Amino acid sequence: MVALEIDNVYVQFGGLQVLSSCSLSIEAGEKRALIGPNGAGKTTLFNVISGMIKPTAGRVLAFQREITASPAHVRASLGLARTFQITNLFINLSVLDNIFLGLQALTPTKYVFYKTTTSFSGLIDQAVALLKKWGLENKKDHLLGSLSHGEQRQLEIILALASQPKILLLDEPTQGLSTAETAMVVPMVRSLDPSTTVLFIEHDMDVAFQMADRITVLNYGTVLAEGTEEEIRSNPKVSEVYLGLDGNEE
Ligand SMILES: Nc1ncnc2c1ncn2[C@@H]1O[C@H](COP(=O)(O)OP(=O)(O)O)[C@@H](O)[C@H]1O
Ligand SMILES: [Mg+2]
Repeated sequence: MVALEIDNVYVQFGGLQVLSSCSLSIEAGEKRALIGPNGAGKTTLFNVISGMIKPTAGRVLAFQREITASPAHVRASLGLARTFQITNLFINLSVLDNIFLGLQALTPTKYVFYKTTTSFSGLIDQAVALLKKWGLENKKDHLLGSLSHGEQRQLEIILALASQPKILLLDEPTQGLSTAETAMVVPMVRSLDPSTTVLFIEHDMDVAFQMADRITVLNYGTVLAEGTEEEIRSNPKVSEVYLGLDGNEE
């Protein structure tokens, strides 16, 4: 079954054509990397999928249902969740409070501040359980800002997972991380539920290969190549785009 389908999407910002005839299709449970040079349109494609940008033309479908113009709550109800390229957490709050707020935002009672503390303690238990599951329980009372970048990125993924998404979009989960920190995030993505469909943007091709089943290469807003590690590595068009760029671009 196809989980996510991008069908002939175009996005234009003023005179700039950022996505052009962009099509890709991701099977349910697949872990797919989206790679490509800086400015290729990867984040823009994520913004289209998550509904932050309406494409000039084309369609987005989740589990065969068209969501091109659907509001955020419809996408969320279909199981779509994302993280951002820039960390989106509160650095002056504790790890536990960050997870708590994230969980609270998912509950229908989020605007009810006078609710009994039982529902809050339920959320706290959930937050602790999530941290425990991912081995960060001992950090629960630390301020988020005191954690390493790697741990902060892990927390962001944990938060995105709190909604038990069917399709998870990760925008550069290893951006700005050291090799050691990247080594914390890679197994996390690998150990996600096999039924969870993941599309992630990754600037480092080697890291992309470690985390993904298949790779899509975006260049000038359109799909240049798609395939397994071997197919991508041996594709001359891909080598041409990456020649001299690898390691230097963001
Ligand atoms: N909101 C916007 N308004 C105008 N131009 C934008 C906007 N967002 C992105 N762009 C431009 O679109 C191009 C693709 O950006 P982006 O999708 O962020 O690329 P990538 O994530 O692959 O590095 C870039 O040239 C960028 O400057
Ligand atoms: Mg980007």
